[in-house]
Amino acid sequence: MSRAMGSKYCVESSKEAEEFYGFVHDLLDSEIVNEMRNYRHHYDTSCFQHCLNVSYYNYLVCRKLGLDARKAARAGMLHDLFLYDWRERKRQHGELPHGFRHPYVALDNAKNYFELSEREEDMIVKHMWPLTLKIPKYAESYVIVMIDKYAAVLEMSVYYSNRFRAFIHGHIQHQGT
Ligand SMILES: [Fe+2]
Ligand SMILES: [Fe+2]
Repeated sequence: MSRAMGSKYCVESSKEAEEFYGFVHDLLDSEIVNEMRNYRHHYDTSCFQHCLNVSYYNYLVCRKLGLDARKAARAGMLHDLFLYDWRERKRQHGELPHGFRHPYVALDNAKNYFELSEREEDMIVKHMWPLTLKIPKYAESYVIVMIDKYAAVLEMSVYYSNRFRAFIHGHIQHQGT
């Protein structure tokens, strides 16, 4: 059972997420996409959960704007398919830092396993814009740039609110003893 953080709809079984699930179910079922569960991304959110967050909100916003919601959902799910722990991986000589490099790695991995349209490729490879200097070519690419940042802030907020709740809970229990 998967759900985007902040959403109450389970993507596999909710009526409200039915269209979204139809767009990405082959990705969610694939071994390579599930491998992202093994890597931590922002705070304690896995790469898989982060990609699902971006995918779902990217889909919702693009659908609302009359853009290509299917491609938005698919590119969102694949945009961080770099498959390593960026905290631990040592940079090779001459290699760009992770922030600049990983969209290209994600695109290469995604192209090895899935058929991508030019629009999906643009969304994946430019999701870190303006860090990656090439200007986004499609409206959907600008949306993913925003949604990726939104998801990172959401993941940070959930992390700190959980920590704060645990702290308060521990404090109350301590007072009660
Ligand atoms: Fe990224
Ligand atoms: Fe991301």
